[in-house]
Amino acid sequence: MDDLRDKYLDLIGTAAGEAALEDLRVQALGKKGEISLQMRELGRMSPEERQVMGPKLNALKDEITEALALKKAALADAALNERLAAEWLDVTLPGRLRRMGSLHPVSQVWEECTAIFADMGFAVAEGPQIEEDWYNFDALNIPGHHPARAEMDTFYMHRAEGDNRPPHVLRTHTSPVQIRSLLAQGAPIRIVAPGRVYRADYDQTHTPMFHQIEGLAIDREISMANLKWVLEEFFSAYFGRSVKTRFRASHFPFTEPSAEVDIQCQWKDGTVTVGEGDDWLEVLGSGMVHPKVLTAGGIDPAQWQGFAFGMGIDRIAMLKYGIPDLRAFFESDLRWLRHYGFAALDMPTLHGGLSR
Ligand code: FA5
Ligand code: MG
Repeated sequence: MDDLRDKYLDLIGTAAGEAALEDLRVQALGKKGEISLQMRELGRMSPEERQVMGPKLNALKDEITEALALKKAALADAALNERLAAEWLDVTLPGRLRRMGSLHPVSQVWEECTAIFADMGFAVAEGPQIEEDWYNFDALNIPGHHPARAEMDTFYMHRAEGDNRPPHVLRTHTSPVQIRSLLAQGAPIRIVAPGRVYRADYDQTHTPMFHQIEGLAIDREISMANLKWVLEEFFSAYFGRSVKTRFRASHFPFTEPSAEVDIQCQWKDGTVTVGEGDDWLEVLGSGMVHPKVLTAGGIDPAQWQGFAFGMGIDRIAMLKYGIPDLRAFFESDLRWLRHYGFAALDMPTLHGGLSR
């Protein structure tokens, strides 16, 4: 019996882990364990023998049970100490920076323009990017044979063979939203319509997809002077400094008279700067809405008049942030976005407009 005791106490003392301990417990105290078998022998002993052996065996069983429990606790302690030693944490280390996505300059400028015009009382309107050619052209006094259709390098969405209805187009400007808004709302009206437009154009200041913000203000007595004031007010709010503008006489079939506006700037050292230099970048077309357009929009040109403009959002983004090549806007180069992008919290608020 003492042999048994020494054997198990030894084995328990040197057991390497919980699994080994469990094996020992089964070996000694399990149903067919060595000590259990001996306890079963008690039944066959004489009462005298049993009185001697019974308590001894019970004591041995208790001793081994306790040794197992102690060893188990010791192993758990050791494991914990090992983990504490291995997994220490330096809470004074700087946190790991996680890069946040950034806003594309066009999204930023889109919001900012909308906010500034909202401050001047313009509501926001929308129209489809895939447009019927009536809205994109005819209703804007650009008939089928008009050279402007060719000039705009339109992307056509061709119909199935045998379908003779006029094709859909990818809208070439935001001006069709003038017609849709007039038909939906009538006059008086004051809206801006930012959105994507498409033309087969490609160079440093032209991309096949770009963004315009259309403006339309129709009332009883709106004049060219109001147009000029609104645009100048916009530029000083948007650029936050005075920039030189040039109102240059121009022609659009849907306005009369018409003007394009250029902003003074300079291309130098891989950047473009406003407010200095000998270059001028065209940022918008504008004019007094043509009576035929008002009629197409369902309002009476004898009673209503007003101005419209269509401004290149990408162009004014280039100027404000010194981005010299428009094509880079749409190449999805992450390094470019990290350089020119904006944190979401930099978004202008709708009420921050004119005071900035
Ligand atoms: C128009 O698109 C007229 N619909 C503007 C207008 C609206 C006139 C209302 C009168 C009344 P234009 O083709 O000039 O006009 O384009 C307007 C502006 O869009 C340009 O001044 C320029 O800033 C921008 N733009 C034109 N083409 C591109 C292009 N391919 N890439 C980037 N910006 C462009
Ligand atoms: Mg133009």
